[in-house]
Amino acid sequence: MADSNSKPTSALSVVILAAGEGKRMKSALPKVLQPLAGRPLLAHVIDTARSLQPAAIHVVYGHGAGRVRETLEKEQVEWTLQARQLGTGHAVLQAIPKVPDEHRVLVLYGDVPLLGRATLEHLVTAGGRDDVALLTMAPADPAGYGRIVRDSKGSVARIVEQKDASAQERTIRECNTGVMAAPSRLLKQWLAGLRAANSQGEYYLTDVVEMAVKAGISVVPVACEDPIEALGVNDKVQLAALEAVCRQRAARELMLAGVTIADPARVDVRGSVQHGKDVFIDVNVVLEGSVKLGDRVHIGPGCVIRDAQIGDDTQVLPHCVIEGAVIGPGCNIGPFARFRPTSHLGAGVHIGNFVEVKNSTMAEGSKANHLSYVGDAQVGARVNIGAGTIIANYDGANKHRTVIEDDAHTGSNSVLVAPITIGAGATVAAGSTVANQVPAGKLTIARARQTTIEGWIRPTKQKK
Ligand code: UD1
Ligand code: CA
Repeated sequence: MADSNSKPTSALSVVILAAGEGKRMKSALPKVLQPLAGRPLLAHVIDTARSLQPAAIHVVYGHGAGRVRETLEKEQVEWTLQARQLGTGHAVLQAIPKVPDEHRVLVLYGDVPLLGRATLEHLVTAGGRDDVALLTMAPADPAGYGRIVRDSKGSVARIVEQKDASAQERTIRECNTGVMAAPSRLLKQWLAGLRAANSQGEYYLTDVVEMAVKAGISVVPVACEDPIEALGVNDKVQLAALEAVCRQRAARELMLAGVTIADPARVDVRGSVQHGKDVFIDVNVVLEGSVKLGDRVHIGPGCVIRDAQIGDDTQVLPHCVIEGAVIGPGCNIGPFARFRPTSHLGAGVHIGNFVEVKNSTMAEGSKANHLSYVGDAQVGARVNIGAGTIIANYDGANKHRTVIEDDAHTGSNSVLVAPITIGAGATVAAGSTVANQVPAGKLTIARARQTTIEGWIRPTKQKK
């Protein structure tokens, strides 16, 4: 047996239910695509399923079919369409013919995204290979969940949905998380026998529990140790609650790895963060996609950083938006700087307030400290881009490149009309609009000459 794939039970197939509309979200976006920590709910569930190394992952989809498939087209899963959403049991029934009889089936819900691998591994291996294992929980507020009904001996007898439950059954605290593991062969039989004789007129997956008990198969309840893991998302209130959990988890992980976080409740990580030592992150920072922070990087308050890399000792001052940039070591960025994809800064570059940098490179020690646009430019080393310098890169149809060679200075309020090269050590005078090549090592002025009119008299108002 191959070591990496060996499992203590029979081969596992996962079925993820993701066909429901999620009416309570009141959204045009299908529920399983609602973002949690920057990714669709369903993507989280698929990840968790994959961590179990199953033989196959089947996703049952239906509502918003095109959008769901398109959004998650890169996922290595088997898709099964449930054209009409007739209930969770009906949903599993659509995928189960594709699962070999001898497999064990783990059912997951696309709207229960925080379950951990350890919990699921425990569930899958609980009981023998022919039993049904049921993940249960006892939430503070059981409203809306199916309740676990036990018999006089304390064994699980059946599950009753809240909508079908008697007043007494509703007082039961033990609830169904929706997650269960069962032998494929038996599950096929039970699903084929489901009826929709309930208040919602749906084929409930939960009814297989009673069928198992009647068939003499034991149903093993496995309590979910951390009730947070089993939280489902039915509305935006629950979505925000889960987002808070993700936020806390991510911040905790960063702090335990040595990052100083001013307030863990005010940092959002929607992706992955790699970092060095002694990184500091101030309040209201959002990190998205893949972010890499070097040693001693300091991120000021209110910054949004997406798919970017920031070198050792770089200071990012408040309220910067950095997307798709590679920023070198020892740089000073912001406040109020904006990077659009894709930019590359060398060491010790300064980008100050209200400066926008797009699709440009800037070599070591160059500065653009105030109110500038640097777009489609290749900027050399030790260049000083004066306040208000604008690179006019766009002629209405095409984008053109600008090259600014080492040690050049551009004066305040100058416009560099691309395509253009500013030679090494050149100086462009303040207020110049340069559209032709600027020679190296010289001062180029391109503005009207200042003259003073002698004897000029300012008009005065006529007295009436
Ligand atoms: C379900 C369980 C309930 C449990 C709760 C836990 C049933 C009958 N009830 O209730 O016992 O306490 O989850 O969160 O199973 N889906 C489909 N096709 C359908 C219907 C649903 O794919 O025809 C999917 C949904 O997209 C969702 C999941 O199944 O991801 C659960 O459906 P939902 O309607 O949210 O069930 P609950 O009422 O929450
Ligand atoms: Ca639900």
